[in-house]
Amino acid sequence: MGIKNRAIIALLSALLCGGMTMGDVKGLHAAKKAKKDEFYTQRVDIENELRHYKAHFRDKVVLCNCDDPRQSEFFKYFAENFEMLGLKRLIATCYKSQDVDLFSQGDCERAICQIYEGDKNGNMIVDDDEIGVRELKGDGDFRSEECIEILKEADIVVTNPPFSLFREYVAQLVQYGKKFLIIGHQNAITYKEIFPLFKGNRIWLGFGFKGNAAHFRSRYEDTAVASDHREGMIRVSGVMWFTNLDIQKRHEILPLYKKYTLAEFPKYDNYDAIEVSKSADIPCDDYGVMGVPITFMDKYNSDQFEIIGCSDNGAVADEYKLPHFKSHNEPYLNGKKVYKRIFIRRKQK
Ligand SMILES: C[S@@+](CC[C@H](N)C(=O)[O-])C[C@H]1O[C@@H](n2cnc3c(N)ncnc32)[C@H](O)[C@@H]1O
Repeated sequence: MGIKNRAIIALLSALLCGGMTMGDVKGLHAAKKAKKDEFYTQRVDIENELRHYKAHFRDKVVLCNCDDPRQSEFFKYFAENFEMLGLKRLIATCYKSQDVDLFSQGDCERAICQIYEGDKNGNMIVDDDEIGVRELKGDGDFRSEECIEILKEADIVVTNPPFSLFREYVAQLVQYGKKFLIIGHQNAITYKEIFPLFKGNRIWLGFGFKGNAAHFRSRYEDTAVASDHREGMIRVSGVMWFTNLDIQKRHEILPLYKKYTLAEFPKYDNYDAIEVSKSADIPCDDYGVMGVPITFMDKYNSDQFEIIGCSDNGAVADEYKLPHFKSHNEPYLNGKKVYKRIFIRRKQK
């Protein structure tokens, strides 16, 4: 994005941020809380994932609705690849004003919307005057009426939304029937609002980050070990791409080679299921219910497996709970609690 455009946006932000009201005092607390959501996705991570989805974008309106255009590599990626992807329109909306390096101190209650409809003058560069900038009436909250109107226009939503609002964020995308590709934390897989979407094959995991960890641009203090530390970034583990865009990966068969033995795959104390502590070890000769780690979802193919439930929110059918099942949703093995498990069963082929 050009300097001129940045300046226009910064000026707009400055103009929109007036004096403080009582509402702002309340807003400041919320902003403080929201601070933990302030980290920015790197271009390389966006490119690594998006290269698998090119066919989905032709003639589509893409919305990045948690994206300050001054910071967002999502907006820049789609603008710079607009013609290559054959996009129809690109829209980005930001939440309040977060860029302390410009005029704002992150306390602005109004936000902006940027629209790009491709190269107009044939120079194949995203020129400032080709990007429409308009101010929103409110703070750009994805749940606000005006943002919902913008959402309705979109075909595909691509962003890294605030982790703290992930449940609501996904619920809204589903409510409005949107296609999406978004970053979230692996813990979200078993949220009671999200898990049924996985179980019903309405959402799945994308290609992901190496080792399910990523570095994000941020001002937060990084707690990564020295060998993983990168200047100006935080390392977040357990991050994944969540999508409902069809990809080859979700149709790949997980090769199974291990044979079932009671010693290696013991039965839980409280579930009529066996413990399989590594997805790669799923026995090739067992068609009963088994508990696998949540990382299994990265290998899940709905033609090969059926999801029965998960221990985290107690969403396992009663028929698999053994008679002495108490209130423990977590599976137990010989009286010892096992970490969160997803219960699956192989499909007979
Ligand atoms: C994890 S950051 C990612 C930013 C950007 N999407 C990226 O990937 O570089 C999440 C962003 O969501 C914004 N945000 C927080 N609450 C929001 C809300 N209610 N509506 C829209 N955006 C929100 C934050 O300001 C933050 O910039």
